Amino acid sequence: MVMEKTLSGHEYIMRPTQTIQSRTDLRGVITFANRTLSDVSGYTREELIGAPHSILRHPQMPRTAYYVMWETIKAEKEFYGYVNNRAKNGDHYWVIAYVAPHYSPEKVLVGFSSVRRAPLRERIPEWQEVYKKLNEVEAKYPRKEQCQAGKDWLLNYLSKHTRFDDLTQYVLSGL
Ligand SMILES: Cc1cc2nc3c(=O)[nH]c(=O)nc-3n(C[C@H](O)[C@H](O)[C@H](O)COP(=O)(O)O)c2cc1C
Repeated sequence: MVMEKTLSGHEYIMRPTQTIQSRTDLRGVITFANRTLSDVSGYTREELIGAPHSILRHPQMPRTAYYVMWETIKAEKEFYGYVNNRAKNGDHYWVIAYVAPHYSPEKVLVGFSSVRRAPLRERIPEWQEVYKKLNEVEAKYPRKEQCQAGKDWLLNYLSKHTRFDDLTQYVLSGL
């Protein structure tokens, strides 16, 4: 799917009462989206369901962020992270995302689910800075090596600036 990635420069600020919910199959194709996801992103639920979740990808988000997310959820662990998303009209909106494995009643992994809420405003500048740095790191490497290089940088950042060696644990510590 070819997506227009124009940006309006306008930030939509989520209200504390809004909760975005979605589910995907094992490849990240959306299988369920709640009304709030449609309200915030500007896509109808019909447009969202069946589309890859990257339909919401903001072009300034580093590849490393999703690499770490997928690595975590494929290992059947829960992921928390700050994510900047792009709405259909080019606005952007920050969320704190919780992404987790989703199981059938028979306990078979069938996909992933996510819940996203308004993040703490005071934590956003740090993540803007971290993602800017990660983009700079990624730009120095051939595509194949970008995510590993970004992950190495992120782990180094966490060990230097925090007492955590895991992104999810660090994000959770500030909630
Ligand atoms: C449950 C779930 C929710 C996701 N939510 C988002 C999201 O809100 N925004 C986003 O850009 N990617 C989200 N992703 C990640 C996308 O699947 C994709 O990996 C990412 O957008 C990077 O896309 P690309 O690899 O095509 O560049 C989600 C994935 C899963 C499994």
